[in-house]
Amino acid sequence: MQNILEAPFLVEMVRTAANMYAHGWDERNGGNISVLLDEAKVSEYVDVNAVIRDIPTGFEAPSLDGKYFLVTGAGKYFKNVRYDPAHNLGLVRLSGGGRTARLLWGFTGGGRFTSEFAAHMMSHAARLSADPASRVVMHCHPANLLAMTYVHDLDERAFTRTLWRMCTECIMVFPEGVNVLPWMLCGTNEIGEATAEKMKTARLVVWAQHGIYGAGRDLDETFGLIETAEKGAEIYLKTAHLPVKNTITDHQLRQLEVHLGLKVREGWLD
Ligand code: 13P
Ligand code: ZN
Repeated sequence: MQNILEAPFLVEMVRTAANMYAHGWDERNGGNISVLLDEAKVSEYVDVNAVIRDIPTGFEAPSLDGKYFLVTGAGKYFKNVRYDPAHNLGLVRLSGGGRTARLLWGFTGGGRFTSEFAAHMMSHAARLSADPASRVVMHCHPANLLAMTYVHDLDERAFTRTLWRMCTECIMVFPEGVNVLPWMLCGTNEIGEATAEKMKTARLVVWAQHGIYGAGRDLDETFGLIETAEKGAEIYLKTAHLPVKNTITDHQLRQLEVHLGLKVREGWLD
């Protein structure tokens, strides 16, 4: 058995948590990450039959039964993940139709998966249906996106179009746009179901007055999605109160669509 602290999937998770903290997206225990792992990879580092304890999930996710996830812990500070991965992260296998998470490593000291585990697992299920290569769900509280939900219309087409116009990269990185949920009680199955529903059509889901969810094929891609949307929101906030002299037009966005062969959300360009 190899040392899990040297597993590429663990090293990448630790680096990503540190980077998210460094970006100011994860104050205190804010934010959470989950990564779907292959059994073959997991087996190189842990005995998959040695269950430390079972943790009830409080929801069902039949399509994820038997799947392995590396996930951040509830109430754990992202700034601390790199100093004590075993305390702040856990590796679980879902069983019983998703009703139980069997702990195989981590969450030392009696910890458990993030309070947003429902939103993560339901989002994984939704994204895997849309893209079988999807592996990562990431949630955080980037200040500019969050601020934007206080001053911008929450209509997702309007919200997306504003972001697309803020920097040329935005439509290239998230041509399907950004979906938006109104404020809802976090840490519940209800917000999990609502997030998953939104995840069917986009990899980014804004939680108004709370933060954002991103999903992708790896940690880099998912981080980059949020990073790009957050940059768009930053430019918006830097310019929203100023007289706008120039913008990116729908014609120019269409040029990008054609030039790069983007699959832009139907009907979201004029
Ligand atoms: P957790 O510490 O349970 O992951 O919660 C953080 C958070 O961002 C809740 O939305
Ligand atoms: Zn949050």
